Amino acid sequence: MRTLNVELGDRSYPIFIGHGIRQQKALFDDAIHGKQVMIVTNTTVADLYLEAMVSMLSIDYKVDTCILPDGEVYKTLDTYGIIMTSLLEAKHNRTTTVIALGGGVVGDMAGFAAATYQRGVPFIQVPTTLLSQVDSSVGGKTGVNHPLGKNMIGAFYQPQAVIIDTDTLSSLPLRELSAGMAEVIKYGLICDVPFFDWLEAEMPVLMALNNDKISEAIYRSCVAKAHVVSQDEREGGIRAILNLGHTFGHAIETQMGYGNWLHGEAVAVGCVLAVDLSWRMGHLTDSDVARAVALFEAAKLPVLPPVTMTVAHFIERMALDKKVLDGSLRLVLLASLGDALVTSEFPMAYFTATLVDALDASLQATLT
Ligand code: NAD
Ligand code: GLY
Repeated sequence: MRTLNVELGDRSYPIFIGHGIRQQKALFDDAIHGKQVMIVTNTTVADLYLEAMVSMLSIDYKVDTCILPDGEVYKTLDTYGIIMTSLLEAKHNRTTTVIALGGGVVGDMAGFAAATYQRGVPFIQVPTTLLSQVDSSVGGKTGVNHPLGKNMIGAFYQPQAVIIDTDTLSSLPLRELSAGMAEVIKYGLICDVPFFDWLEAEMPVLMALNNDKISEAIYRSCVAKAHVVSQDEREGGIRAILNLGHTFGHAIETQMGYGNWLHGEAVAVGCVLAVDLSWRMGHLTDSDVARAVALFEAAKLPVLPPVTMTVAHFIERMALDKKVLDGSLRLVLLASLGDALVTSEFPMAYFTATLVDALDASLQATLT
């Protein structure tokens, strides 16, 4: 097992990464505060992993479960209400601990429920998708979607611990593995060129789920995320670089209807658009662009936007982004490979050209 820490003063917490560790009770004992536990999961993950966790924890705790419907489309205030009702009906008090067992949707919603139930109770993240293991379970962003925008309602609220069991990836559909890989590649692009080089070499092995390599990819991703979050917990500055591709990506997710494009798929296309815009601004070489596109393709991810979208759709959706400041759109771009910047200083003509060319390429791809 490998361990690293997210350093946030009195809100610091460990991340544990290893095989089969979701059944290591001692890791939970250290993070559970009282005698009550509410495991929040969804119908898919419950069938796979809930029973074993309930049996393990029932030895020492009063364990209740809240099983949510599965899907991004259920990441709503209504579903959050289901968690609240479960906690109240089972008479959980302020000493309860919420455990999020599932992917990023469960983690974000269970975390938001923990942040707000009786003004805040402790929670533990047990992420079961690659995306949640490398990104969403770390850093304390919690929340739900609004029909008008992704993750528009939420709170910064850190877990007590993140317990990453790499064995859970064996049941993950290939499409979800690819989606998680988008966030892994993102770290290489924004802050770690040696990691980008390593991913280029190892992508076929990673996609075949080689356990040592995948653990290494998760560890290096978590190191990058923990480092950024430790410097800027509430995204006053540098944390925004973690959103490379996300402003474009959120526009795709919202426009296409939540759940139709996976978050990671939309982020992959968003990263390619951000790379293209960075190239137009003279920050990247032709070879940098080709390498980035090839790496997303090697992870079996889309690199072109949905053919049904228009430039106007992007502009309208992106105007709602949380990084918009005083009416001006800020984007995460690359100053060079491995070095991200957040800026509103980009020529609108380049921004439009990036979208026009990508949408045109998408149309050509459907015609051939
Ligand atoms: P997800 O939670 O929808 O999980 C993907 C699918 O895999 C679901 O159908 C789920 O039931 C299933 N699943 C989960 N674990 C499984 C397993 N081990 N075996 C088989 N199936 C399994 O999606 P996700 O990609 O994990 O997370 C996406 C969400 O995360 C989005 O809502 C996004 O906004 C959010 N997110 C949050 C942050 C953050 O910092 N909080 C960062 C990135 C993404
Ligand atoms: N996923 C972006 C962040 O956690 O800040």
